[in-house]
Amino acid sequence: MNPNKALWEKGDFTRLAETMRESGAALVESFSIRKGLKVLDLGCGDGTTALPAARLGADVLGADIARNLVAAGNKRAEKEGLTNCRFQEGDACKLQELMDHSFDLVVSIFGAMFAPQPLDVAREMVRVTRPGGRIIMGNWIPNDPTLVAQILTISSAYTPTPPEGFISPMTWGIEGKVVERFSGAGVPAEQISFARETFTFTSPGTPSEYLAVLRVTVTL
Ligand SMILES: C[S@@+](CC[C@H](N)C(=O)[O-])C[C@H]1O[C@@H](n2cnc3c(N)ncnc32)[C@H](O)[C@@H]1O
Repeated sequence: MNPNKALWEKGDFTRLAETMRESGAALVESFSIRKGLKVLDLGCGDGTTALPAARLGADVLGADIARNLVAAGNKRAEKEGLTNCRFQEGDACKLQELMDHSFDLVVSIFGAMFAPQPLDVAREMVRVTRPGGRIIMGNWIPNDPTLVAQILTISSAYTPTPPEGFISPMTWGIEGKVVERFSGAGVPAEQISFARETFTFTSPGTPSEYLAVLRVTVTL
């Protein structure tokens, strides 16, 4: 079993994703989506980004390594009657089932950053994007004082030393690394830009109830 896949199929990410819907939809509003745009949402989870893009008229494929999240995404799209949004299993390191240059926009919001081979991820994202198309990644920033960066820092202090060659997903939050990876995949450095945004988790309960959701989601 692929340990990356096993990790994400464990726990119940859909519970955490429920608290990300508002910021996810707001983010998608900034993507200049138009009807018929061919969008790949990579590491899509259960569709926090994919569904809002489809609601705006894009033709969306969500790809994720976790079978349970693919099933949850398809269920959500079906429930909303979004026939322009479908989900399938796929590994961001090796998207062999997807043709070269087949998407206008490849999006990955806190998704592909968790794939173990970042150079392969950058190469695959570039390969499946049409010439002149766009790639948008949302990545957590290492040592940022906000929630997720702090959770990842704390949890890494309690996990065994990673195997040799392990590359932290948080390196996707370092601008120099992003330039290095995408330049290596053929994107000129001057075509790569960055913006810092705030992503808010919204939960109706108390902070301790939210902590309980995080425990269920990330206790691996
Ligand atoms: C933090 S979740 C984000 C999900 C979604 N993008 C969102 O904003 O809710 C990370 C996602 O990346 C997926 N993922 C991790 N490694 C992957 C890989 N190698 N290929 C594809 N998806 C992957 C996980 O299964 C999970 O759905």
